[in-house]
Amino acid sequence: MKILILNGPNLNLLGVREKSIYGSQSFEDYFKQLKAEFEAIELEYYQSNHEGALIDKIHEVGFSYDGIVFNAGAYTHTSVALADAISAVNTPVIEVHLSNVHKREAFRHKSFISPVCKGVIAGFGMDSYRLGIQHFIQTK
Ligand code: DQA
Repeated sequence: MKILILNGPNLNLLGVREKSIYGSQSFEDYFKQLKAEFEAIELEYYQSNHEGALIDKIHEVGFSYDGIVFNAGAYTHTSVALADAISAVNTPVIEVHLSNVHKREAFRHKSFISPVCKGVIAGFGMDSYRLGIQHFIQTK
């Protein structure tokens, strides 16, 4: 079973950026924990600050992987192109957010990708990713 965790813009700064919202752990550190916890599956991680690179990655894995756990960061609220990429591939995508975006500014309440994702997990900090992976494993 192959799952990709895909992180969008500014998520390379987890552990450094706005710690009161996003916590103090780096994603690299959390990913090591996930790899240990889910050693029975092939778990990959890719991050980019560039919309086109995220689209390329979705195209690359989207016809062979079993699932994508995707935190599109701020592109969630702006990107028709990412929504189209998700629609174009076969692999199901779960939208995740560390913060509960619905508790925050109004511009974060709109997601262009939610309508084309299997489901949405938001507000559980890093655990949002774990919950997404668990869903794909349970429904395989
Ligand atoms: C985020 C929420 C987005 O609104 C924000 O732009 C991010 C992170 C989250 O994980 O809570 O970069 O996706």
